[in-house]
Parts: sequence; C-alpha cells; structure tokens
Amino acid sequence: RKSYNITLLPGDGIGPEVISVAKNVLNLAGSLEGIEFSFNEMPVGGAALDLIGVPLPEETLTVAKQSDAVLLGAIGGYKWDKNEKHLKPETGLLQLREGLGVFANLRPATVLPQLVESSTLKKEVAEGVDLMVVRELTGGIYFGKPRGFDTNEKGQEIGYNTEVYSAFEIDRIARVAFEIARKRNGKLCSVDKANVLEASMLWRKIITALASEFPDVELSHMYVDNAAMQLVRNPKQFDTIVTNNIFGDILSDEASMITGSIGMLPSASLGSSGPGLFEPIHGSAPDIAGQDKANPLATMLSAAMLLKYGLGEENAATRIEMAVLDTLDRGFRTGDIHSFGHKLVGCKEIGEEVMKSVDSGAGYT
Ligand code: NAD
Ligand code: IPM
Ligand code: MN
Repeated sequence: RKSYNITLLPGDGIGPEVISVAKNVLNLAGSLEGIEFSFNEMPVGGAALDLIGVPLPEETLTVAKQSDAVLLGAIGGYKWDKNEKHLKPETGLLQLREGLGVFANLRPATVLPQLVESSTLKKEVAEGVDLMVVRELTGGIYFGKPRGFDTNEKGQEIGYNTEVYSAFEIDRIARVAFEIARKRNGKLCSVDKANVLEASMLWRKIITALASEFPDVELSHMYVDNAAMQLVRNPKQFDTIVTNNIFGDILSDEASMITGSIGMLPSASLGSSGPGLFEPIHGSAPDIAGQDKANPLATMLSAAMLLKYGLGEENAATRIEMAVLDTLDRGFRTGDIHSFGHKLVGCKEIGEEVMKSVDSGAGYT
C-alpha cells in the first residue's frame, strides 16, 4: 500500500466544515486505489491566533513542509479584521504560501453541464466554458516592498504598497503557464496592465520573449480591465490565462461566478519542489459559517487536485471528480448552486452523497 502524509489546515469560518467532509471523501477515494493517508491537523489563520497568538505558528509551517501535500479550508473573519497587519489571519496564509514557495496557483473554472442553469450568464454564453487561470502567487503587490503606513509632506496619513516583479519570477510562472496551455488547447492569454505599470511592461516583455520556446502555443496579451469585461462578454474565447497575483485573485473570483458559484472552484498552488498547497478559492464565508450551508465541492475538487498535481494519483483524483458529477446528476445542491427542481441540502449531507457516489464508483470506469 502507498501511504502519504497530508497536512490539514481547516482554518476559520466554513473552513472546518468543508475540510471535514473533503477529508472523508479523500480518504475513501484513496482507499479504493490502495492509498493510505495519515492526516495532521494544524492551526492557521484566526484559529492559530486564538490558540497560539500568531496566524502561522512555526510548527504548522514545519509540519506542512514535511508532509506530502497540504489541504487548506479558508481563513479570516470579523473577529480579527481590525488586527494589525502581522496579526491578521490573511498574513498567515501569505506566510504559508511564501514559506512553501508555491508561486504557481492554478485555478480552473469549468462550467459543468449540470450547473449551466446556476450560472448568472445566459446558457449559450456559459455553456462549455473551460478555462484555467494561472495566478502568480508569491510576488507582486502582495509582497512588494516598500510597503506600510506613513505621513506625507502635508501631514496626511498614507498607506502604500509596491507592485514589483523580477524577470526571474515572471519567467518561472510563464513557463508553468506555457506548459499548461500546451497540454490544454494551445492558447495562452497573458493579462496585464502594461499600458500603465512598469511591472506589467516587464511582465509582457519577458513573456513575449519566452514565446519562441513554445512555438506550439498561441500567445496573446490583454489589459486586465478589458479581460474583466471579456470574461463576462464571451468567456469561451479564453483557455489558459496567466496573470499576476492581484489580477489573478480578482479574475478568478469573477470566473467562478460563470460556473455557478465560488463554492465550486478549487485551486492548486505549486512550487519548484516540496509539497503543494490545495485550497478552494473562496474565503471563510462568515455570513454562513457554522450553519451547515457551505458548499464543500470546491474543497473536494481541491482534494482531487491534490491527488492529481500533488501526488500524481490520477485515478483517485478522477474518482472524486466523477463522484461530484454523479452527486450533481442525482440532483443534490447546496444553497449557492440550488435551482428549481433540485434537492437542497447542507454541507454534511452533500458530503455524504458524494461519499456514496465514490463508494459506488459511479461514473468511474
Ligand atoms: P468569501 O469567499 O468568504 O465569501 C463571499 C461570498 O461567497 C459570501 O456571501 C459567502 O457566503 C459565499 N461563499 C463563499 N464560499 C462559499 C461556499 N463554499 N459555499 C457557499 N457560499 C460561499 O469572501 P469574503 O466575504 O470577501 O471574505 C470573508 C473572509 O474570508 C475574509 O476574512 C477574507 O479575508 C477571507 N478570505 C480567505 C480566503 C482564503 O482563505 N483563501 C479567500 C478569500 C477570502
Ligand atoms: C484568495 C484570498 C487571499 C488572496 C487572501 C485571503 C489573502 O482572497 O486565496 O484568493 O488574496 O490571495
Ligand atoms: Mn481571493
């Protein structure tokens, strides 16, 4: 039997709810492929602040680094919103991404046939959308220096951040994106703000230069404001998108809505070595936390990405993906994706239904 160490980071809000059901599904899908998991649950975010006083305890990072893959729920909540920067849950997540060196964040957005009617876009616009946002995750304005608070020459308070990218950082994320585009349908759209920002001008230059190494990939460029518009005008024009940290954050939330709900979108964050970090793209959803209303499918699909991209266990990954589709086929929906004629269930119940689908091997051959 193969065995893997998985670090579980439930975090805050709906994080523990979605992680609990995703863990069960991961375990079951693994066991059907002869895989054994040992799980280490560690605190991060607000949970870690309350328990230990910092948003990313040293031990959490150490355990995560020593494991084969990390599955995270979500972090953040009203309780900690007014904390100083270094004591914010979000800072813990950024430290985790930086600490694991996971610079490439893959955020696939697929409109499932079962959920076309949950999209806010018209059926003919949404149907068949299948895109991959490759978001740079450990650089840009999130990490750039100088940053901070100060007083300007007029004595007014200021807050400032710096968008900064090195050629090295751009080159390595671009290579990941070109490779992904090559395996998909050979189209790569780089999204930037090169008409205004120097960091984007360098971004475009480096990516353009790299294109000669990938002659089979058709590279295009788009300004981010236009991209935000094009995503809702005609999302099917996109296949693979590569973009910086903050544009990727925003565009992936936008793309999620085309698929029906942010509760559906998984992600994989990968570095050049060491364990990957897998998490839904949504947050801790404090408005529905503790009510068993959260959609755990994004986290289950993140567990599938963990199997596929983190461990190379494609069969177990496919089992989860098929089970999610089968559960939707059988009519089960959480509130965020519910539409007329379907069975409205909570987080736990849809989790149990996915378990049944995994168990029966529905859709999996
Ligand atoms: P959010 O993604 O938590 O919620 C936005 C809206 O989507 C809410 O109405 C929420 O109920 C809904 N939603 C999100 N996930 C859902 C799910 N799985 N099922 C059903 N509905 C879902 O974003 P926000 O409200 O802007 O942020 C809340 C907190 O989460 C903040 O503290 C923020 O910093 C944090 N956050 C964390 C992450 C992360 O951990 N990776 C990501 C985004 C936001
Ligand atoms: C995400 C979140 C995070 C980000 C926050 C919570 C730091 O929005 O994972 O998309 O901005 O990257
Ligand atoms: Mn986000």
